[in-house]
Amino acid sequence: MPDWHPLMKTGIVEVDDDHRELVRRINELGQAMRRGEGREKVADLLAFLRCCADEHFALEEKLMAEAGYPGADEHRARHEQFRRDLAEQANTFAGAPAERAVALDLHGWVMTWLSNHTLYEDESFADFFRAKGR
Ligand SMILES: [Fe+2]
Ligand SMILES: [Fe+2]
Repeated sequence: MPDWHPLMKTGIVEVDDDHRELVRRINELGQAMRRGEGREKVADLLAFLRCCADEHFALEEKLMAEAGYPGADEHRARHEQFRRDLAEQANTFAGAPAERAVALDLHGWVMTWLSNHTLYEDESFADFFRAKGR
């Protein structure tokens, strides 16, 4: 995972702060896996994602509603899908004997999701937000 990339910047301070923290956590997991300490970090990351993704999504959804963003329903559906996928990842992790493989899967999944979601979906919303002069 590249570190925080300027392209990920939405210009909405609270959203960018959350994304930066997410990237930091994901990188931490990557480093822990290289040291062979993946399992502990996976549990941390899962717990973090569960609580903070909820908060972060609520923030974005509130901003979208306030701004009258036309793509809000679709965006909300993406967040819902992430929650379902996260629950599935957590289940897999809980019952997995092959720890390293599971840590790698989780790392890859969350990395891909975050890059795609922030670069395209969050960015579309941010464009709209900026165009409205917020
Ligand atoms: Fe986001
Ligand atoms: Fe989002």
